[in-house]
Amino acid sequence: MMWIFAHALLFPFLLLVPGGVDALSWVPPGPVEEVRKYDLCEGQNLSVPWNLTTDPLENIVSIKWTWKSGATSEERELASLLPGDSVNATDSRVGHAGSAGITINNVSASDTGDIEVKVTLQNQSSQLVVTHVARLLVMVAPDVENEKLTLEVDYTPYQTETGVSYATLRCGRFHHRGVPTVHPMIETPDGQSVSIAAHNDHEYIYPLDPGGTTVGRYRCQLPAKNLCQDANLLSNVVDVKANDIRLNKLEHLLSQLQQEHDHDKQTLQNTLKQTKQELNQAKQEQDQTKQTLQNTQQGLKQTKQEQDQTKQELNQTKQELEQTKKTLQGVKRDVQRKYLASVSSERHSIMLRVSIWPPCLLKVTA
Ligand SMILES: *[C@@H]1O[C@H](CO)[C@@H](O)[C@H](O)[C@H]1NC(C)=O
Ligand SMILES: *[C@@H]1O[C@H](CO)[C@@H](O)[C@H](O)[C@H]1NC(C)=O
Ligand SMILES: *[C@@H]1O[C@H](CO)[C@@H](O)[C@H](O)[C@H]1NC(C)=O
Ligand SMILES: *[C@@H]1O[C@H](CO)[C@@H](O)[C@H](O)[C@H]1NC(C)=O
Ligand SMILES: *[C@@H]1O[C@H](CO)[C@@H](O)[C@H](O)[C@H]1NC(C)=O
Ligand SMILES: *[C@@H]1O[C@H](CO)[C@@H](O)[C@H](O)[C@H]1NC(C)=O
Repeated sequence: MMWIFAHALLFPFLLLVPGGVDALSWVPPGPVEEVRKYDLCEGQNLSVPWNLTTDPLENIVSIKWTWKSGATSEERELASLLPGDSVNATDSRVGHAGSAGITINNVSASDTGDIEVKVTLQNQSSQLVVTHVARLLVMVAPDVENEKLTLEVDYTPYQTETGVSYATLRCGRFHHRGVPTVHPMIETPDGQSVSIAAHNDHEYIYPLDPGGTTVGRYRCQLPAKNLCQDANLLSNVVDVKANDIRLNKLEHLLSQLQQEHDHDKQTLQNTLKQTKQELNQAKQEQDQTKQTLQNTQQGLKQTKQEQDQTKQELNQTKQELEQTKKTLQGVKRDVQRKYLASVSSERHSIMLRVSIWPPCLLKVTA
């Protein structure tokens, strides 16, 4: 792991490379400008052999290796190297491949991206930065349940572009469909191999001709090429029979009819239920109206009672008033009588006095 810039620092005059700076080369040789591609399987070791040679009067200031995602702007430093030092790696899997080369052990899918080397050189007058890129694609083998492909025929109707298929082949089951995703082949009864692309999470789906004419023996397979697989994977053979298709088609139609019937029944029941509910509600509203009416009637009755009472009280007051009036009239009569009595007694006394008065007789009238 220790790699010292011996050639640049200790023996600068031993290396006489024509061409000066940017003397990076591949091992084995090839144009360094071209982005070299590394297609590896998960778990393999990557080695990018960049060989750096410098001019005698040039010093290496630093070398930096960076990983950059091809898809996003994500990037992270892998390692750096300063003259007289050993490689300082950020990941235990990262190592030095000598010169400007780098290694990454046990690559995984998340390592897919660009690996860039950036060399900073210094001569007597100026600094120069040189960068080069290697492109890494880490492929992942598909993960098939029990490491065995299985092929099943499913008679559930499947809508295709041309109609409904009453027999669909399902090739699986996949825990993981690989990176890049695999496309299994179907071997048809007439000896052809057809690639399948349609899939759900765990299976590739191959609907048979809606006409149901292509009956016979089928098999699916995953060719080993480019898939990081050890060998071809072959499934069991299924025999698709015309009678099975017809039978299942009939069964399906029957169940569809049954479903429609059930649906109608359900709709009717729902309507009934709703009508019942509406009726109940109407009844409740009626009861409420009745109650309100009763309440109003009672209120009216009460008002009438109160009115009667008031009337009675008035009547009583009136009677009392009349009584008082009668009493007052009585008192008035008494007073008049007393007054009259007093007046007549006075006249009497005057007359008496007049009669006693002798010279003349005066007739006094009251
Ligand atoms: C990767 O490198 C490590 C360390 O040198 C070694 O032990 C391992 O076997 C290598 N793996 C492969 C797949 O070559
Ligand atoms: C790097 O290149 C120099 C000059 O061509 C050569 O002498 C040296 O062996 C190379 N190093 C490696 C690791 O190949
Ligand atoms: C190595 O990297 C670590 C973290 O980036 C840093 O702290 C340390 O100083 C570096 N060592 C050298 C010798 O560059
Ligand atoms: C390789 O990396 C995987 C995770 O990506 C890990 O599970 C496995 O143990 C590693 N293998 C070695 C030999 O380090
Ligand atoms: C230093 O490098 C620059 C840039 O490559 C170059 O133009 C210049 O001639 C070099 N100077 C010497 C003295 O080598
Ligand atoms: C008032 O009272 C008298 C005697 O109690 C009764 O005869 C009469 O009908 C009453 N009138 C009313 C309007 O209640």
